[in-house]
Amino acid sequence: MAVITNINDLKRLHRRRTPKMFYDYAESGSYTEQTFRDNTSDFAKLRLRQKVAVDMSGRTTASTMIGRDVAMPVGLAPVGLCGMQSADGEIKAARAAERFGVPFTLSTMSICSIEDVAAHTTKPFWFQLYVMRDWDFVERTLERARNAGCDALVLTLDLQILGQRHKDLKNGLSAPPKMTLPTMLDLATKWRWGLGMLGTKRRFFGNIVGHAKGVGDASSLMSWTNEQFDPKLDWDKIARVRDMWGGKLILKGVLDEDDARLCADFGADALIVSNHGGRQLDGALSSIRMLPRIVRAVGDKIEVHMDSGIRSGQDVLKALALGARGTYIGRAYLHGLGAMGEAGVTKALDVIQKELDISMALCGERDVKELGLQNLLIPDDFEGRWA
Ligand code: GLV
Repeated sequence: MAVITNINDLKRLHRRRTPKMFYDYAESGSYTEQTFRDNTSDFAKLRLRQKVAVDMSGRTTASTMIGRDVAMPVGLAPVGLCGMQSADGEIKAARAAERFGVPFTLSTMSICSIEDVAAHTTKPFWFQLYVMRDWDFVERTLERARNAGCDALVLTLDLQILGQRHKDLKNGLSAPPKMTLPTMLDLATKWRWGLGMLGTKRRFFGNIVGHAKGVGDASSLMSWTNEQFDPKLDWDKIARVRDMWGGKLILKGVLDEDDARLCADFGADALIVSNHGGRQLDGALSSIRMLPRIVRAVGDKIEVHMDSGIRSGQDVLKALALGARGTYIGRAYLHGLGAMGEAGVTKALDVIQKELDISMALCGERDVKELGLQNLLIPDDFEGRWA
């Protein structure tokens, strides 16, 4: 067994063990993938400020996100088709997150249903919603999340229509996969994945199939999105969701200061600076590059969280030092899941926490809540001048 020391090790195993169609789904951005690449390369432009001869004992990565205690401010982001990376993937990821003490967010487009995940966990998880044209479906889904004990709603604002990811079209992405010759040849080498899938009933979109009416092709994320997601989402509709939900609300997918101000005025509990992992508007700026401006605009009025591009504890440190109160990982935990199931998600969290802890110590900090601009070296042109 190879020694796993970083997220890239998990990524290599994920690629080897998971059908190409699902690995590619995870590892894609939209169109030219410029924003997808910038999300990680812009993190690398920030450097950390080393401090010596300061007491580094008694360190803690514990913090809070929207009032919830977390072992580190790193949640698991909602990920569609997570249960196709590994059988029962959402249950495995939720259990790993629960044991670790970080929030797990279940996607509307998950394979395991809300009830499945609730039945296999003991603490509340968060639920992510896409606003659909069918308000009965929205209402019933929110009720199911409430009944399952979900204690925050993450409302995604940046995916009412789907940015094209070329690989998904070329691979014929579907859940479960259709048995074409290339898929069968690929699956022949992914026996571990296949055995897992044979042992579970959860192979369809668990929150959709049997719950939504009039779905044309329920196995295709693309056709489901085109048919069902509401392209007329606006602030009135967001308010309607808020009122239906009545609990904590996180608005996800904000990449603009004016939009961030609207989120703060709206009275949400947090916003997530995000470009959906570079999967939606190709050509948008990276999340880490937009983060400082959004923090300056609204950081004293609303909790600012961020995702898109985090692959290490050093990345988490940089985001927190720029003012994020919480962060999320998507691909970084999927690599663990695809590589080694639940143990792989735990490994991913462990890797990131250790990197965060050691880097914090070498920056002369003992408490993750004290990280700030004093810990960073930021190049002059980092934010850029964009007219
Ligand atoms: C769904 O959230 C996706 O990015 O595919």
